[in-house]
Amino acid sequence: MKDKLEKIKQEALKQIESSDALEKLNEVRVNFLGKKGQLTAVLKGMKDVPAQDRPKVGALVNETREEIERVLEEAMTKMEKMKREAQMKQEVIDVTLPAKKNSVGHRHPNTIAMEEVERIFVGMGYEVVEGPEIETDYYNFEALNIPADHPAKDEQDTFYISGDFLLRTQTSGTQVHVMEKGKLPIRMIAPGRVFRSDEVDATHSPSFHQIEGLVIDKHITFADLKGTLAEFAKELFGEDTKVRFRPHHFNFTEPSAEMDVSCFKCGGSGCRFCKGTGWIEILGCGLVHPNVLRMSKIDPEKYSGFAFGIGLERIALLKYEIDDMRLLYENDIRFLKQF
Ligand code: DAH
Repeated sequence: MKDKLEKIKQEALKQIESSDALEKLNEVRVNFLGKKGQLTAVLKGMKDVPAQDRPKVGALVNETREEIERVLEEAMTKMEKMKREAQMKQEVIDVTLPAKKNSVGHRHPNTIAMEEVERIFVGMGYEVVEGPEIETDYYNFEALNIPADHPAKDEQDTFYISGDFLLRTQTSGTQVHVMEKGKLPIRMIAPGRVFRSDEVDATHSPSFHQIEGLVIDKHITFADLKGTLAEFAKELFGEDTKVRFRPHHFNFTEPSAEMDVSCFKCGGSGCRFCKGTGWIEILGCGLVHPNVLRMSKIDPEKYSGFAFGIGLERIALLKYEIDDMRLLYENDIRFLKQF
């Protein structure tokens, strides 16, 4: 019996020594100490040992068992330690490496320009409103004094959805929505996206943005329009900015004008930027046409007003000296980051 136990022990120790993984050590444990293991088999054979020898043999079995367990435990601890060390070596962090930079997006030049324009008008007591991008022919044309057969409609050919519905060609329709609410006086700007079936080039896009403005009150005159827009130009382009108004035609205003600002690059003496004229056109404006007031149930005998429309991209291109509008729509972060 003693020899048998010694043989089992030697075999177990040999196997432990030659194990190169925790799984192998576990196998050894099962093979020798497990329920069906070799040592357990010996214990089961105890019934065949004469009664007086049993304590001795029992002690011997226990000793063997303890010895195997001890060696096994040691081997496992050593193996685990080695495994951890190998892992640590693999996962080592080099604290001297440069940190990864978080790249954050950037506000679009259009957005920056829009917020700037909004800030100026809100400062003058204007409300910012939003109109729908899908309009009916009535809001986009008819109620703005552009009847069905008017040539102004051809110039603003656009995307029709079905029947009466179309993508708005101008933010001016928002004037009508606001006037129809019947709350007077009105002092509002309406920024938003507009659509025209234009070919893409350096100054055109089928989708761009406008900022509409409308003021309706008693005794509003062209002087109010001039004062307001001159102040706006100074805030936007600098204190020395001068403005001039050139007569123009818009159906929904009478009289109508286009406003130029003195070139903020050369101060008005003429340069490449203003094509040598000293002036840069930035918006259309005028006194609201009595027909427009009437159609929206405002009495032109009691109320008058002025309106204006600013091309947002034009402001962004001018302000940031960008010479191709297409850059605004490519969303290349290297471009956007510059503003
Ligand atoms: N809606 C005009 C356009 O798209 C711009 C405009 C001009 C708006 C004069 C106005 C205005 O409110 O008074 O060309």
